[in-house]
Amino acid sequence: MRSPFLRFCWGAALLFFVLFPRSHAGDRNPFANDPKAAKAGEYEFRINCALCHGLGARGGGRGPDLTRAQKKHTHNDVEMFQVISNGIPGTAMPANGTNGQGVGMTDEEIWQIITYIRSVEVKAPGKPIGNVAQGKKLFYGDANCSLCHMIEGKGGRLGPELTAIGASRTRESIVDSVRNPSRRLAWGLAEATKEFPQEYETITVVTADDKEIKGVALNEDNFSVQMMDSSEQIYLLDKDKLHSFKKSRESMMPVFTPEVLSDKDLNDIIAYLISVGTK
Ligand code: HEC
Ligand code: HEC
Repeated sequence: MRSPFLRFCWGAALLFFVLFPRSHAGDRNPFANDPKAAKAGEYEFRINCALCHGLGARGGGRGPDLTRAQKKHTHNDVEMFQVISNGIPGTAMPANGTNGQGVGMTDEEIWQIITYIRSVEVKAPGKPIGNVAQGKKLFYGDANCSLCHMIEGKGGRLGPELTAIGASRTRESIVDSVRNPSRRLAWGLAEATKEFPQEYETITVVTADDKEIKGVALNEDNFSVQMMDSSEQIYLLDKDKLHSFKKSRESMMPVFTPEVLSDKDLNDIIAYLISVGTK
């Protein structure tokens, strides 16, 4: 016969785990396959994640499609918990509670979001479209992308580095960036010292000695601007010394219409971007 005291201890311990399941966070998803938790997670997702990952987690302008069963950074719920808690350094994926997400999510809310993501995952991988080798040839050749973009250390610097873009963005949003560059300008990486990353706006200035310079904004505050022109020259200018200063949301990237770059060629280039980004 167990003593009443021992039974009391067991009962208290049990009660403790029921009341404080969070002390267990990290080993497994307590809500796996729970439809109610998935619903709560969907709500949290809309508030905290849809801005980048799109409604329905299908990917948006700034974050990858999370309905792909094959993930790049996470292989199970526990790893996904880490990614959502800590973010992915060097990418736009923020740590919990940073980047204007307000107060952080609780462990419970993160598990609910994971349950939601699992509930919308599509098991069959999408069919690859496009020819990777041909896309690489176009990127560095006839399509001129490498004049302004770098991949794995090779190429120009006027536009953003594109090594990771194939993993961090959906095919549709990459197509949109090429067909309508000005609709949604790229963002530079967030810097620790700034609340918001710099957008790739176009800046045109006339300097004190009447020289016109046009380029992309690298950094800007009330008093100064740092910019790069199309020959990759970098300027740091005091705004009050300029004759004129104009900012525009017309991208420095040319519009690639289907006449300039066919759908087939663009598919090949995107196949190349995806193969580099996901390897
Ligand atoms: C400011 C934009 C942004 C926000 C907000 C954001 N993410 Fe991300 N997230 C990203 C980007 C960009 C990546 C891809 C990083 C890379 O691989 O380059 C990413 C990657 C991920 C990954 C890894 C995907 C993989 O293939 O391994 C997961 C999971 C994820 N995000 C979940 C979330 C969740 C859940 C939220 C909300 C709590 C969230 N993210 C909020 C931008 C964002
Ligand atoms: C003359 C320079 C130039 C050329 C050529 C050029 N781009 Fe760009 N690209 C830019 C600049 C500048 C930006 C940033 C502003 C913007 O978002 O439009 C950009 C942005 C992008 C983005 C969005 C990146 C992001 O992080 O959102 C993609 C994708 C892209 N370019 C792909 C391409 C591809 C593919 C080609 C070749 C078919 C190409 N670019 C040719 C200058 C160029």
